[in-house]
Amino acid sequence: MFEVVGATPKPLFSEKTWSQILKAIAVIPGTKESIHLREIEKPTLSEVPNGNGVLVRCLKVGVDATDKEIIEAYYGVAPEGDDFLVIGHECFGVVEEVGENVTDFQKGDFVTATVRRPGTSMYDVIGTNDMTSDDKYYERGICNLHGFLTEYFVEDAQYVVRVPKGIAKLHCLMEPMSVVAKAIWQMDEVQRRLKVWSPKVAFVMGAGQIGLLATLFLRLRGCEVYTIARSPGPNIKSEICEDYGATYVSTKETSVEDLIARVGRPDFILEATGSSKLAFDSLQYVGKNGCVVWTSLTVVDEMLEIPADRINQEWVLGNKVLVGSVNGNRSHFELGIKFLSLGETTYPGITEKVLTSPVKGFENYGELVRLLVEDKSALKVYLDISDL
Ligand code: BGC
Ligand code: ZN
Repeated sequence: MFEVVGATPKPLFSEKTWSQILKAIAVIPGTKESIHLREIEKPTLSEVPNGNGVLVRCLKVGVDATDKEIIEAYYGVAPEGDDFLVIGHECFGVVEEVGENVTDFQKGDFVTATVRRPGTSMYDVIGTNDMTSDDKYYERGICNLHGFLTEYFVEDAQYVVRVPKGIAKLHCLMEPMSVVAKAIWQMDEVQRRLKVWSPKVAFVMGAGQIGLLATLFLRLRGCEVYTIARSPGPNIKSEICEDYGATYVSTKETSVEDLIARVGRPDFILEATGSSKLAFDSLQYVGKNGCVVWTSLTVVDEMLEIPADRINQEWVLGNKVLVGSVNGNRSHFELGIKFLSLGETTYPGITEKVLTSPVKGFENYGELVRLLVEDKSALKVYLDISDL
């Protein structure tokens, strides 16, 4: 068996009882090095009201910088009544069973699920819980709700999103792509103020999973894309960018100022570096009427000196906009999935190169953490629970 931390293990009444027990990877939020394997009870369809439940068997679950922060005890909240949090918010699985009122899904469908659940603000009420103004918010695997790094989960059908078979091989990238889709959707929403907005030149700051998926999204939108990262190419990041028809720029070789001298200031910048310094730097680069979207979540208390007057003047005289963007609701998942599908027909076989680092077996959670924290060349670390 495996080590159980926290709650008392369930007594072994019968074989059936054990078959109702699942393995899960969890942390004690706020406690460093508390990641552990534990047993949880298998959820049932009856947990979702009105026969709207979907039981999903997890096949692949990704981890990202947010999980790293939760594991390092900077972030994450346990659900009420529990002292632990099952982590994992990037899920991909197959439908096993549906409630009597579910018509959209059937056994065997490939699916993913959204992360945030509605709170009480007006934004939640109208179905845009990604824009919640509540201070306490609910995100599976992150805040106040258990996540997907387990064998099965049950979810209300309204939060389950179908994944076409043809892109099942991109499995745990659905959630990160929803974050990209939301960020670019926000750009469109905000830039409607300009009446004739059509971004031509885009900079993507950072070439992690979000940066690379944003590169794909913006190339499919017809932009000339420059993806800016530290490490000099050729490497896997530069290869993926070039396969998408974008230009990879290493700041070790070319400064952003030099790039601008060559290609002009960008209309749009999507910032996904994980560094608040680089997020602020991006404010110095965007062109007139331009838009910067920040997507990095930074947890350390970094202090910074910036050319405040110059930025202020350029921003006012240039009518520029900065938007923070987090999460993605169902519509962003659907949009992201469409772009991943289009990406597969436009640049076949490229996006799967992002899936660099599978780990097999729940008991190997230590390896999952090691790759996530230490392996700088890992673009996507995920638990490979079962073959497709
Ligand atoms: C997740 C989002 C979530 C955000 C803040 C990100 O890693 O992908 O869904 O809203 O963290 O918790
Ligand atoms: Zn995430």
